[in-house]
Amino acid sequence: QIKGEGTAHSKLILIGEHSVVYGEPAIALPFPLLMVKSTVQEGAGEITISSDFYNGPLGTIPDRLEGIAVCIRESLKFLAKPAKDIHFTIKSMIPIGRGLGSSAAIATSVVRSLFSYFEKTLSHQMLMYLVDIAEKYAHGNPSGIDMECVSRDVPIWFKKGEAIQPIEMGVPLNLVVADSGRIGDTRAAVTAVREKYEKHYQKAKQSIKYIGDMTRKAKSILAGERPEKLGGLLNKAQEELMKLGVSDGNLNELVTCARNAGALGAKLTGGGRGGCIVALAKNMEDAERISDSLKAAGAKDTWFFTLGMSQSAS
Ligand code: PMV
Repeated sequence: QIKGEGTAHSKLILIGEHSVVYGEPAIALPFPLLMVKSTVQEGAGEITISSDFYNGPLGTIPDRLEGIAVCIRESLKFLAKPAKDIHFTIKSMIPIGRGLGSSAAIATSVVRSLFSYFEKTLSHQMLMYLVDIAEKYAHGNPSGIDMECVSRDVPIWFKKGEAIQPIEMGVPLNLVVADSGRIGDTRAAVTAVREKYEKHYQKAKQSIKYIGDMTRKAKSILAGERPEKLGGLLNKAQEELMKLGVSDGNLNELVTCARNAGALGAKLTGGGRGGCIVALAKNMEDAERISDSLKAAGAKDTWFFTLGMSQSAS
């Protein structure tokens, strides 16, 4: 009876979070270990949702999820379909509020499943237009990096106002992700950086510019054959993020733990003040050891994976 299906994966910002808000570039990676799947089938006279975060009719969705409702209604308007008789089942493995793009991935899978249900082609541009509606409700004024990354299978170079570029990778990357278990407040972190930018313009501007410079270096390293050089850049970016006030004691501890366990570099990923860290490992053996150390240090969850070159083909 299921007629529509849509998926999206999680995302990681490798480098460039926060500075991206000020026009610097950022590099985001698909994180395929954590997925969302939305399926659509005929409903019983109204639009309903079953999920871990909400079960019931669209009309009574809680305020914090209103973005999804508006996104669904807008999609139906575009599809010129009556807003009735549809049941969504949404299964997400992505923890919420950890900088892993869960809200963008949920909205992306929902829109994809709806278009698939009505057998309509969905252009990337239309997908972004619709997901952006949900993202604005969830995050205020997001840069758009999350929705661009969760809907593509390749690492991306993202700069506000410019076309997204897929990144060519010279060698695979071995990555470890650790979840602090704490919900990060991206909106508050972005506001805190804005306040720093206004009160201590020179210092904040310097950090932002420096992260931008390191992101540009990271791009050329990714294209080469010495990914270990990336480690130092991740560490330096973390220092600047600390100066900007978006890291915290627990994230710093996890970053230090990853480095002590042999990571080539480590930093927070996403908005910070909770959420996750990402570490670069020399090989999968090291990645496993780093992951174990992070768990022993109190990380709620850890994952390790190789981001292959095949995934960078545009
Ligand atoms: O959604 P998060 O927590 O991955 O953070 C997004 C990255 C920021 O640069 C902090 C904000 C933005 O809108 O780009």
